[in-house]
Amino acid sequence: MDFLKQIAFPQSDAHIGVLHLVLNVIYFLLLPFLSYLFGALVLSLYHNRKGRTNNDVHSIQFSRDVIAHILPKKSIVLLFGVVPFLALTFAYAQLLQQTSSISSSILTWGVLLFAAAAAFALSYHSAMKLSGMFDTGNQKNDEVESFKVQLSETRRTSGKYALIFLSLSLYCLIAGTSLAADPNRWMSVSNVLELLFSLDVLVRIVQFILLSLTIASLGTLFFTFSWEGGKKNLTAEYAEHVKKNTLSLGLVTLLAQPLFVVLSVVTLPVSALSGLVFVAAFLVIFFVFLASLSVYGMIKNFSAAQTGNAFYLFALSLVFVTVQITASLSSSTQQHSAMLAYRYSIYHEGLLASMGINLSAVTGQDIFNAKCSACHEFGVKKVGPAYKDVLPKYENDRAKLLSFVMNPQKMNPLFPPMPNQGLKPAEADSIAGYIMMMYKQAK
Ligand code: HEC
Repeated sequence: MDFLKQIAFPQSDAHIGVLHLVLNVIYFLLLPFLSYLFGALVLSLYHNRKGRTNNDVHSIQFSRDVIAHILPKKSIVLLFGVVPFLALTFAYAQLLQQTSSISSSILTWGVLLFAAAAAFALSYHSAMKLSGMFDTGNQKNDEVESFKVQLSETRRTSGKYALIFLSLSLYCLIAGTSLAADPNRWMSVSNVLELLFSLDVLVRIVQFILLSLTIASLGTLFFTFSWEGGKKNLTAEYAEHVKKNTLSLGLVTLLAQPLFVVLSVVTLPVSALSGLVFVAAFLVIFFVFLASLSVYGMIKNFSAAQTGNAFYLFALSLVFVTVQITASLSSSTQQHSAMLAYRYSIYHEGLLASMGINLSAVTGQDIFNAKCSACHEFGVKKVGPAYKDVLPKYENDRAKLLSFVMNPQKMNPLFPPMPNQGLKPAEADSIAGYIMMMYKQAK
């Protein structure tokens, strides 16, 4: 499954920036769809079984509607599922190229499992639709009866396999992306099962289950009562049935979410934290809170219009879930990205040189004189600290020094922050090499 990494191409820092943007868009398509599909499958299978054992037409109708809302057309699975999942896998393979992380292999498995899950889900959905037609018809003959038996067999097996494959694929998605956000584990994790019992993955799995039940409940309410004027021929009894099976489930799963949002931040590695991660987590909780108020309002006093509000408010919280995920990924891969950009510039220069184009060589010393010497000296403190005081911690970590020089962060409270010098990766590399060399010589 490592072929993805092999076809990953060298990339400049501009490419990496674009990749992060693309990832945001991908998550924005993928997360709501996957969670809705998962929640809808769970609800549909549960109510179908309940309906068949108790001979309850409303439960059966409900199980059919829940899944029909999220799969109105076959193409939707490609558009919001397979294609973005595949694109996500490529994007991660690009970002993590030249690392030993198994993230992209795990994600590749996720895509394959998802394709299988999608095929079973579609077959489940069409079996449901067909049996719906037969349930209402009252022709009685042997052929129809045996066809009905076959149909319910198809429905049962495809429903079961859809859920199994989807769960496995989601596990791969969650495990692969959590691993990507934690560079310290890139080397150590060599098997996808090692992630099964890691706290961050468990927290995200529970969080995902909760939000998928919420979105499927609120979505069902919305599509039954409000979307395009609501469901045609809606009877009062069925309307009651829908409310009874969605409102309180929606509320309970909403109320449990803030805890898991907090846990999902707490279990992030320090390298993945940034201001944006906290802001996004706060906004997730904020919109979950507003959605809960709206659902609570409907339990007290139902109105069809309110179903739209609750659904949209929750969708907004999902937007910030995706921001939280991509923000933590981009801070945790920052160092590695600087490294990749640096390798790219070497590759680029090599390419130019092979075409006979020579870039005028600027040495580390030139850059030091032009860009650093105003604030730094080796032995004495000026505007910035003396190099001899700050370089020891970078001695064995060239990548870290590079990433600081290209993108200075606040370090020491006794100094003002260092302004970004706008160096290109190759320049940053030669200045980093130069000051390290001078420091080692002085030692
Ligand atoms: C305008 C002044 C200024 C310029 C120009 C400047 N720096 Fe700095 N530099 C600072 C200050 C201030 C700090 C302390 C920042 C802090 O602790 O938050 C610093 C800190 C550093 C550190 C130590 C970081 C750490 O881990 O504590 C390094 C290394 C460094 N600068 C390298 C460079 C290099 C290389 C250049 C030239 C490309 C450069 N600086 C240009 C002001 C400057």
